[in-house]
Amino acid sequence: MTKASAFGKIILFGEHAVVYGRPALAIPVTQVYVDVDVLDSKREGIWVDAPAIHLHTDLNSLPAEHPIAATLHNLFFLLRVSPFPNLDIRISSTIPVASGLGSGAAVTIALTRALASHLRHAMKDEDINAFAYEIERIHHGTPSGIDNTVITYARPVYFVKGKALETFKVGQPFTFVIGDTGVPAPTNESVGDVRRLWLEDPARLESLFDKIGDVSFSARCAIEAGMYEWLGELMNKNHALLQELTVSSPELDHLVEAARSAGALGAKLSGGGRGGNMIALVKSEMAETVSLVLKTMGAKNTITTPIF
Ligand code: PMV
Repeated sequence: MTKASAFGKIILFGEHAVVYGRPALAIPVTQVYVDVDVLDSKREGIWVDAPAIHLHTDLNSLPAEHPIAATLHNLFFLLRVSPFPNLDIRISSTIPVASGLGSGAAVTIALTRALASHLRHAMKDEDINAFAYEIERIHHGTPSGIDNTVITYARPVYFVKGKALETFKVGQPFTFVIGDTGVPAPTNESVGDVRRLWLEDPARLESLFDKIGDVSFSARCAIEAGMYEWLGELMNKNHALLQELTVSSPELDHLVEAARSAGALGAKLSGGGRGGNMIALVKSEMAETVSLVLKTMGAKNTITTPIF
């Protein structure tokens, strides 16, 4: 049996603008993860068992564009595996689906690692990352690549599309509380809506992206300098810019406000928006209070995650 895992992730700054070449920051969220087990099987075919998405089926019954089928077919093609071996694949995940925590990319990456290793093909992180990006493209059209990058390398990234991986230093530990609106929100829809706005009024959208890019750059400086208050202000500023991009929602705004009132130094939506998760910066001693207030105000779940 071969095993592999991948953590979830959260975008701290710069979502959407990152698709248009501006910088963004993301960190792994080690509290949630995907585990994949691959076993040689005595049954004919490739059997996939993924209880989190109620999937118990053989590969031939999955539509070719299904993310798991697309990963398997493309990987076997890439690794020149023919005929397909008989396998049992078990995918278990604690990452909520369509909520901005990177469940899709984490499944692709853990599955790719487990299969490559089971079939004794060495794949370096950069190969895994490039492959996962191609799978993201099938499902999201124009992904920036931030999700697959932060999940493949499992460390904080300062990401600019098409540029080499850059990580960043952390001047002092920061604590974040992530709150889930419980509203599933497919990223490709909000990304598509932003694209339509950009096509209608490129100058206005480019100027918004520039402002978001400046916030991301400043946020990196604030993290490296260990400046809590400044980082909180930048989160608030980024949220206002995302509201202008029309990707927030009443549920996100409600939780962002709740976190600020409960003592967070700043809060914003995270990821594609319209639903999914928000993130708040808190002093560590306030994490429990902010988390409790978020739950009382409707968050389906919260995760406290540090960077250090
Ligand atoms: O919804 P998430 O967490 O997968 O993040 C999407 C981030 C976007 O910037 C909106 C899109 C992208 O590909 O970077």
